[in-house]
Amino acid sequence: SIGAHGTQERTLIAVKPDGVQKRLVGEIIKRFEQRGFKLVGMKLLQASEELLAKHYHDLKTKSFYSSLIDYMSSGPVVAMVWEGSNVVKTSRAMVGETNPLDARPGTIRGDFSVDICRNVIHASDSVDGAQREIGLWFQSNELVDWESCLHSNTY
Ligand code: PPS
Repeated sequence: SIGAHGTQERTLIAVKPDGVQKRLVGEIIKRFEQRGFKLVGMKLLQASEELLAKHYHDLKTKSFYSSLIDYMSSGPVVAMVWEGSNVVKTSRAMVGETNPLDARPGTIRGDFSVDICRNVIHASDSVDGAQREIGLWFQSNELVDWESCLHSNTY
């Protein structure tokens, strides 16, 4: 939203199929809410190969690309857009290192995963990347601008 305090950053967070299967959706939403970020879009979907190919476009030449696509297609994903100051960088810190074995306790991957092929959650890695990914996963009319109280960025 563009308000008195300027444009707020947005990021794409996706609970991956293993996260949904392990019943981690509520836990993950809770962490972002408690941190003070604002949920502006959310849906559960079976991601198509076409969507995943666009989403992981930069990884096409990696050895793990096809297993990554298979994994991300193996069940539903919960895609969310969270908004707030510095939300892209802060979300990455909350998620932890890509390889869960390197992720510190207290991070989402550090608390719930030990396997890089099942690392529970995706978070955009830059503001530009977030904008691109949000455009892939959401129509503009699926994102909702709302304010919790006038003249305030916090609840
Ligand atoms: S890389 O190698 O620097 O491009 O990797 P990185 O940017 O850290 O990760 C990009 C996404 O690829 C996933 N990944 C893997 N999946 C399966 N196997 C292996 N070995 C592997 N390495 C990286 C990683 O989880 C990232 O997915 P997202 O959805 O962005 O978290």
